[in-house]
Amino acid sequence: MRRGYFPGEADFLSTAFITPVQDGIREVEQLMRSQAGNEHHPDLRAALEHLLTAGGKRVRPTIVFLSGQLFNASHPRLVTLGAAVEMLHTATLVHDDLIDGSLLRRGIPTLNARWSPAATVLTGDFLFGRAAKLAAETDYLPLMKLFAETLTVIVNGELTQMFAAKGIIERKNYYSRIYAKTASLFEMSSLAATMIGTEDETIRAAMKTYGYEVGMAFQIMDDVLDFTGEQATVGKPVGSDLLNGLVTLPAIYYAESHPDDPEVRTLADGGWGNNEKMEQLVKSIQASNAIRHATEEAIEHVEKSVEAIKPFEHAPEYHSLVALARYIVDRNS
Ligand code: IPE
Ligand code: IPE
Ligand code: MG
Ligand code: MG
Repeated sequence: MRRGYFPGEADFLSTAFITPVQDGIREVEQLMRSQAGNEHHPDLRAALEHLLTAGGKRVRPTIVFLSGQLFNASHPRLVTLGAAVEMLHTATLVHDDLIDGSLLRRGIPTLNARWSPAATVLTGDFLFGRAAKLAAETDYLPLMKLFAETLTVIVNGELTQMFAAKGIIERKNYYSRIYAKTASLFEMSSLAATMIGTEDETIRAAMKTYGYEVGMAFQIMDDVLDFTGEQATVGKPVGSDLLNGLVTLPAIYYAESHPDDPEVRTLADGGWGNNEKMEQLVKSIQASNAIRHATEEAIEHVEKSVEAIKPFEHAPEYHSLVALARYIVDRNS
């Protein structure tokens, strides 16, 4: 049973675009739950139960269903794909929280808040294994290849962020990072679901663009919410990106328009480890136009996603896909 931990999640679930896929999402959750298996270690089963009960917005499986249904893709295969994608997403979150040292996710403690790093890594690995198995069960080789490639892109993105991106105030670097860690999975979700439904390459390309643009908007808004959100609503710690050396779009905009701000200079000189100054910088960014600029950029991506699917405007799913894209920039969690 889903537990509404924070209001934003309930907002997402009550939005019109989710209604046509609600049953499908339930099937995805059941399939994910069944992956724990009785033969596995009890602690592992408990961890999976903990993760699955916490919920989540299920944005990616929603994209899978809406995209697939648009082209009459087989429902059981969409359920399998949706579970594979959400399982992969969950696995990346388990590892991401360990890497970031985050103690809260979806309103409840993360695995790394309770377990050793080793146990957390292994649980993440288990989820990756299950995600790969589910991807294989779609019984479609090109899709498995896409799935494996996406995973390597995400991991490369996280590694780049860890080793090469700390404290870097650079737009190009930011875009390639958010593509790798987030938009690539959104792109895969819309493309893979479309691939199940049609072989038409023009249609596939249009749906791939939809996922890409929605994904870019999604991560930009996630980064905005790190400055503007409330922990209780977002369900995870906020205000921590800069303290971790993660320079996101609001900070980049601020640095561009305030090059002489002393804290910006500290950051540019590699001083992101100075917590006091970074906390001051967070406050300056919150009070500046940078938040609005970043949000406007996310809206531009949303409009591009809507443009990409215009050829399908007569299908009922079109309206849900548009509503989902617009929700991305209105969300508060
Ligand atoms: C969080 O994704 C990680 C990012 C890519 C920003 P979501 O915001 O979709 O997380 P859940 O699944 O709803 O918790
Ligand atoms: C999402 O990035 C990372 C992956 C999905 C791999 P973030 O680090 O911004 O996600 P949150 O803010 O912890 O959810
Ligand atoms: Mg994180
Ligand atoms: Mg974030």
